Amino acid sequence: MEALKITNLSKSYHLRGEDVQVVNDLSLNIKKGEVFGFLGPNGAGKTTTIKMIVGLAFPTDGEIKIFGKDNAATTTKEKIGFMSEHPYFYNYLTGFEMLEFFGKLFPIDPQIRTKRVNDLLEKVGLGEAKNVPVRKYSKGMNQRLGLASALINDPQIIFLDEPLDGLDPLGRRQIKEIITQLKKEGKTVFFNSHILADVEEICDKVGIIDRGKLIEYGEPKTLAKGSKSLEDFFVKTIEKQREII
Ligand SMILES: Nc1ncnc2c1ncn2[C@@H]1O[C@H](COP(=O)(O)OP(=O)(O)OP(=O)(O)O)[C@@H](O)[C@H]1O
Ligand SMILES: [Mg+2]
Repeated sequence: MEALKITNLSKSYHLRGEDVQVVNDLSLNIKKGEVFGFLGPNGAGKTTTIKMIVGLAFPTDGEIKIFGKDNAATTTKEKIGFMSEHPYFYNYLTGFEMLEFFGKLFPIDPQIRTKRVNDLLEKVGLGEAKNVPVRKYSKGMNQRLGLASALINDPQIIFLDEPLDGLDPLGRRQIKEIITQLKKEGKTVFFNSHILADVEEICDKVGIIDRGKLIEYGEPKTLAKGSKSLEDFFVKTIEKQREII
């Protein structure tokens, strides 16, 4: 069974008196245990797609199934982890308190919750900063806390909107290792990134979206064959697309 099945998904926004289609007839299947990289230039529709999948935006058309069930079902939402492009936290709480707060939103035994909070803080490299108020966190520390919060409910499928953004090379390595570890545990990971060398390294499959349309899909190695790298392939693909339009 597919972990994620998107069929003919579209989304229009009403902008300056006209309907602008920001996601256009997008269909995509992601298998359980796959790491999927969702690529595209700025404004291509990546965040909008993720928001629709996790139920924060509503499609104009199309269908989204997670493990064969409607994405809006409560039992489905329990299985989803989500890290936003701009994680938002309560500034006066510490990293530990913030994760405890998120954990309380799920029916998790308090002892298991606190252990999980501490384990996650260690996992994302915030163990030493766990009692520091979030307002004193750097951008990279916020990203790390964002990832930890996406994993608090031990989700089966995890959506990460630019998890590598703003991290130092050490942080990027840690996050990539966490994603690879999640895959080993049989979890499915769907993430956006502009750092294509990292995408090439850890993704089983990638999709490229431009102006709301899926224009390429496949294994990164296969797509990059004949190009210097996945980044080179990406740039050539988008440039070709610009010539067509
Ligand atoms: N709430 C909204 N109202 C109107 N237009 C929106 C809204 N959210 C996004 N858009 C528009 O939809 C398009 C796609 O935006 P989206 O945030 O999905 O892009 P993205 O691929 O995530 O880009 P980036 O790489 O810069 O994060 C953009 O043209 C954007 O201006
Ligand atoms: Mg985005």
